[in-house]
Amino acid sequence: MRINNISQLLLFCCMMITTVVVGRDNEHEHKSSIIPQPNNVTYGTETVIDYGTPLRVIYDEALSNEKDFLQKTLFENYSAEVSFDIRNEKKLKRQRKGSYIELALDAENTFFKEEGAYILEAKDKHVLITAADARGIFYGVQSLKQLFEDNVIEDCTIKDSPRFQWRGLMLDEARFFQGKREVKKLLDEMAYLKMNRFHWHLTDDAGWRIEIKKYPKLTSIGASRADSEAVIWKSGKKLGRPHSGFYTQEDIKEVVAYAKERHITVIPEIEMPGHAAAAIAAYPWLTASKKQIPVPTRFGKFKEIYNVSDPKVIGFIHDVLKEVYELFPSKVIHIGGDEVLYDSWNESANVQKYMAKHQLKTPSDLQIHFTNNLSKFFEQNSRNMMGWNDILGDDIHGWQSKDNLNPSEMLSKSAIVHFWKGDPKLIKKTLERGYKVVNAYHIYTYLDYKPNRLTLKKMFNFDPVPKGISEDLVKNIMGVSGQMWTEWCPTNCDIERQIFPRLAALAEIGWTDVNQKDFKTFRMQIPRLKQRWYDQQISYDRETKY
Ligand code: ACM
Repeated sequence: MRINNISQLLLFCCMMITTVVVGRDNEHEHKSSIIPQPNNVTYGTETVIDYGTPLRVIYDEALSNEKDFLQKTLFENYSAEVSFDIRNEKKLKRQRKGSYIELALDAENTFFKEEGAYILEAKDKHVLITAADARGIFYGVQSLKQLFEDNVIEDCTIKDSPRFQWRGLMLDEARFFQGKREVKKLLDEMAYLKMNRFHWHLTDDAGWRIEIKKYPKLTSIGASRADSEAVIWKSGKKLGRPHSGFYTQEDIKEVVAYAKERHITVIPEIEMPGHAAAAIAAYPWLTASKKQIPVPTRFGKFKEIYNVSDPKVIGFIHDVLKEVYELFPSKVIHIGGDEVLYDSWNESANVQKYMAKHQLKTPSDLQIHFTNNLSKFFEQNSRNMMGWNDILGDDIHGWQSKDNLNPSEMLSKSAIVHFWKGDPKLIKKTLERGYKVVNAYHIYTYLDYKPNRLTLKKMFNFDPVPKGISEDLVKNIMGVSGQMWTEWCPTNCDIERQIFPRLAALAEIGWTDVNQKDFKTFRMQIPRLKQRWYDQQISYDRETKY
């Protein structure tokens, strides 16, 4: 186009602007700036909330917790005056005058039958968030929070519900105790990203981090070690200082309550029968040899494991679990079960006698027999057991001797399998055998892996539903979990650099339907998220280019 005079130039500019605006609108019809990406969103361009206008918040009385979160958002992001009013059907017409945000429960709408579903409508100077319960409203408030951070509330309708019910983060505090303040920080970020399961790895070889009143040595001895292996496996280097720390039962209650306000369930993990050296350091009779050991100062796997053929040891496990049941309302409790070295069972005449009596051919059979007996104790206490996929007895490591494999015992069907390792085909086999699965396949979900090994994009593109799974089995894939193992992360900053920004990708795997996911759109939000993390004093990974 040749431009000959000023009016043609103006016309040209108008055409260009129109093209840009329409282009943006089309884009907005499908994608939003919210992470995780909502599953159904349409956007207009009208400004709904003007930043200088006084605003009223109307909320159902049962939603005072969610109102508090909205209040905090408005305090941080909105400069004009805000007032609050309990929603009253009789006065609703008056309450809805001017600019307002309304939080309302709606038991009728069938869209809300999905747990966590909500609708956010922004139009005509108001925002209405509806859901069947407080959880859905909470997620609507989190979406609104991100819209406020984006500095515009334009007219839009978001009809959103999560893809999976299990959107988890696991934190290992046995290797390095991170502390209550850090855990709350992580819970805040999980809530912001609509994640809902905090899996708390509280016991392992390197430390026992939960107060158990009946066995005080678990923490007076098991929560401290003299030194720590440093840098990487078998480096031969040590940090050169002792490490200790544990949560009192009061601390645990505080964290569980904090998580509950954010609609997050805390799943404690009490490792058994392996990864138990810290407990054995405190009470040597827990292992078959009864050998006194210190809490190990290197990381890895250890020969000393619980002697599950001894009724006194089973009594100990029940006692610990009874206190755990009291502290954690979660229906699911994790028993670990991974990477069990069977040497101490093979070497013990008592364990061998027990196995012969119960016709258990291999140590894998004994582990499954133990796990199944324990699952009855779980059921009596209305709980479900969860464990790493080692509990099925499959050969997932290649280091078990061949005669330990092919157990004839069958794991109880009530157990939830936390799939992390082995041939990926085993996921399908596990589903076909009738188990529920949380897919945490390590190459896609281990946050301790360096960001150049597990890139943001690789993680983002992980689909917990493997190809070729029939529809009736897909429903048994409960969701996804990211694992933050802390062997090489002594400080809060160390774990944060591993977790962020990948936590956002994990959240999107858990929430957003595959056909709504788009890495380019996701990546565009990373600068905004980084600003948030900077404001929250979170040390995200600054080095990797995405
Ligand atoms: C695991 O990473 N040992 C479950």
